[in-house]
Amino acid sequence: MKKVGLVGWRGMVGSVLLERMEQQHDFAHIDTTFFTTSQAGQLGPELAGAAKPLLDASDISELAKMDIIVTCQGGDYTNAVYPKLRESGWDGYWIDAASALRMSDDSIIVLDPVNKDVIEQGLEQGVKTFVGGNCTVSLMLLALGGLFEQDLIEWVSPMTYQAASGAGARNMKELIAQMGAIHASVAQQLDNPSSAILEIDKIVSEKMASSDLPQDQFGVPLAGSLIPWIDVPMPSGQSKEEWKAQVEANKILGSSKQPVPIDGLCVRIGAMRCHSQAMTIKLREDISVEKIEEILASHNEWVKVIPNERDITSTDLTPVKVTGTLSIPVGRIRKLAMGPKYISAFTVGDQLLWGAAEPLRRMLRIIVD
Ligand code: HSE
Repeated sequence: MKKVGLVGWRGMVGSVLLERMEQQHDFAHIDTTFFTTSQAGQLGPELAGAAKPLLDASDISELAKMDIIVTCQGGDYTNAVYPKLRESGWDGYWIDAASALRMSDDSIIVLDPVNKDVIEQGLEQGVKTFVGGNCTVSLMLLALGGLFEQDLIEWVSPMTYQAASGAGARNMKELIAQMGAIHASVAQQLDNPSSAILEIDKIVSEKMASSDLPQDQFGVPLAGSLIPWIDVPMPSGQSKEEWKAQVEANKILGSSKQPVPIDGLCVRIGAMRCHSQAMTIKLREDISVEKIEEILASHNEWVKVIPNERDITSTDLTPVKVTGTLSIPVGRIRKLAMGPKYISAFTVGDQLLWGAAEPLRRMLRIIVD
């Protein structure tokens, strides 16, 4: 059995990963060692047999005993440890949730329902570094996989509605704290059926503008508002989150030399852990909506076409419906007024599952099975 070292398994993405690994009985296929950045020597979890002491995640000689390392520890850890480990002569597989190594020439971004061929070719050629993609990119590609596979997309403009989880666990808590603080500011008035809405709105607006609204993480109110900027600025005027769409998607698809243009605005909204995206797509051909739906639905077992109807869209094409599941609904598919090759689509996906943990555990199984 391959020796697998797990790093960063206590954080939010790491915890989701462990949960999925348990559900899928992955631990029966690997010899697991748990590493830690802060609690070396303490007993680890019992997930993979009897609990053993945790090893130091910065100990290169211990890491080098592993055949495979899976890390959800973050980019700073990757930048600090990965080069030293490779320089020490370690030739094992590195599977990483962080973005640090995503765009390096010797890494592959993993999303096997979409790029199994790229992964298998890489494994044959001796690639040893596999990185999970940006969440919005992976979720978009799972939704539109059928159209990309048949090279039917000339360009896509995804406008995102990204959940608090993408910013981190503390941000999720802060979103709820903001919601609570706003509600508390008008709880009395809400209990009184005759209270005036404009009075309530005034108090809420004042609360949201006041410095005592919890906002250490986001820096601004998110509850009752939105933030039309995610990550650092790029010279192009894009945010880094927006820049990732085209470069990462084309790397995943193996089309970086002739990239499909993919560009839009990324917006943080007050959802918990599901990212949504409204996409304007220019097709290379005029294809019927029926045919488009058929192509999308048949691409992978998780994508689900939602008919362009009000009721089912309102219930099934939402973060509330998708949260905690691997389902990738895609709906609002219709021709746009711009012409017969222009269509709209809307998709939702769990940012922590397909958006982060699931591609990593599947990559692990591809290597060990
Ligand atoms: N960058 C994403 C976000 C999460 O902020 O929502 C990680 O892919």
